[in-house]
Amino acid sequence: MARTPLRIGVLGRKGGSAKSTTSYNLAGALALRGLRCLLVDLDSQASLTRALSDHPVPTEGGIGARIAEPSRGLADIVRPISELIDLVPGDRSIEVAAAALAQNPAGPLRLRLLLEEVADDYDAIIVDTAPMLGFTQTSALLAGDLAIVPTRTGAQQDIDALVDIFALRDELVQYRFAVAALAAILPSNYHADEAPQRDGLAALREGYGALVADPIPHSPLIERAINARVPVVFNSPRAGVAVAFHRLAARLYPLTEDEQDAGATQGEGTGQEAQRHREEREKNRSTVGR
Ligand SMILES: Nc1ncnc2c1ncn2[C@@H]1O[C@H](COP(=O)(O)OP(=O)(O)OP(=O)(O)O)[C@@H](O)[C@H]1O
Ligand SMILES: [Mg+2]
Repeated sequence: MARTPLRIGVLGRKGGSAKSTTSYNLAGALALRGLRCLLVDLDSQASLTRALSDHPVPTEGGIGARIAEPSRGLADIVRPISELIDLVPGDRSIEVAAAALAQNPAGPLRLRLLLEEVADDYDAIIVDTAPMLGFTQTSALLAGDLAIVPTRTGAQQDIDALVDIFALRDELVQYRFAVAALAAILPSNYHADEAPQRDGLAALREGYGALVADPIPHSPLIERAINARVPVVFNSPRAGVAVAFHRLAARLYPLTEDEQDAGATQGEGTGQEAQRHREEREKNRSTVGR
């Protein structure tokens, strides 16, 4: 497809907020729209890689090693996962690379540079991050056009932790970096029948308004999908959780008329908000640092 890939950082400093689940299933929803996706496992836990690949995670064959030595590029470590989804594996050397680059202010820009080499092959690049406020969050903010922040809603501390990501983003903006636009706070693993989660969702909406996307409901299909290594949208397209991921895909990536004519099968069409993100993305490209 002849358009620059949309680079999406899936952020969050809290563990277990559904960053990896979101990355994978969002890739599935985008692939069903006919878009070629690259998943980047920027987490030394490498949980996405372990879930999606039979092959072990070699420290020399993952993104960490390439961040340490960017001249090696990424092309030879990309693994096909399904027809339209590829994976750049994670490996435990991400933290080693981050530590080695601690004195190098350009370190968190390396991911962006590495992705440029493979960008032409994809319509969307999705970066899954590690739950710490540091190297991987900064790298994804600097590499992305858009950022989404999944969060559970049942505990106040999860909601409070969002502020740290926003502060990190604001600081990068202050230093005139081109930074991913904040596209959505994504209530994740949402149990509508639990009062604390409903209250948390209401508080999020009150605090952040339209930035809060429709929640992704809790569903046993999510773990089944990861065990089967098939995104939930592929195997259970009518399930509520699959519809929620399609809605997220449509919010982030409106299809052009050509793409709609070419027969993308799913999604919710082009909302005003999605159009705004497309414009913001173009604007981002022309600002400092791009
Ligand atoms: N909608 C959902 N329904 C059911 N289970 C879910 C849902 N979303 C996430 N989970 C489960 O919650 C757990 C945490 O999800 P996930 O691994 O995606 O979080 P994470 O933010 O990537 O974690 P980490 O911070 O450790 O990387 C997993 O067991 C996942 O299967
Ligand atoms: Mg994860």
